[in-house]
Amino acid sequence: MLSGAGVSAESGVPTFRGGGNTAVWKGMRFDVISSAEMVERDLPAVWEWFDYRRNFLHELMPNPAHYEIARWQDRFAEFTLVTQNIDGLHQKAGARDVIELHGNIWRARCIACGFTHDMAQSKRPDACLECGDRLRPDVVLFGEMLPPGAFEFAAARASKCELCFVVGTSALVYPAAGLPEIAKAAGAYVVEVNPERTPLSSLCDEVLTGKAGEVLPLFNNENSLL
Ligand code: APR
Repeated sequence: MLSGAGVSAESGVPTFRGGGNTAVWKGMRFDVISSAEMVERDLPAVWEWFDYRRNFLHELMPNPAHYEIARWQDRFAEFTLVTQNIDGLHQKAGARDVIELHGNIWRARCIACGFTHDMAQSKRPDACLECGDRLRPDVVLFGEMLPPGAFEFAAARASKCELCFVVGTSALVYPAAGLPEIAKAAGAYVVEVNPERTPLSSLCDEVLTGKAGEVLPLFNNENSLL
């Protein structure tokens, strides 16, 4: 399964593009404030934006889509959950071994030694507790590469899966959006769940038009197909 911001929309997390309201911070588009260039130019401003988002997210809970997805990991011999989301709501709903292609907002990473600091239970340290250098959000910012190995592992699983679900993504951001294409090319049955059509819809074997929190729980009954 590949998930995107749409899975968290019903939890109150704004999406970046389609459907929900697009995030703008102090007049700056999200792809400006969330960029590698901004970390170089004004790291305090980047933290101000991520601190705001973390505080906003802190109050939010997973929705029925997250809980259903967490259930699927015990339903299949092999279930791989790949997310573009940094909000940690999949894990909060009980999902394990989530492949976070774009990092996680609840972690800070040292710019010098790469040591990561968990901020889920504790406040953000002023500097790296290992080497004292500056910290930045452990999130993939615009203009940056994905965490080493994450995409390669996800692509390997996509190339071997029989069933591929694509839930709540506009399928505009690569390389993540390439995963369902890899699954399809390898013969998987591809299903999209989204209230809107995406560039991926025509490639899918099935398009379930609707909200993830309403559609996915339909699979949670004894007479569901799955
Ligand atoms: N259920 C399912 N899908 C939904 C819902 C919902 N309740 N509400 C909205 N959507 C769909 C929208 O129709 C849209 O296609 O979710 C998608 C959200 O698209 P984006 O905002 O583009 O989010 P995403 O695809 O995850 O973005 C990818 O872009 O900005 C970067 O790094 C950021 O991870 C993000 C990446």
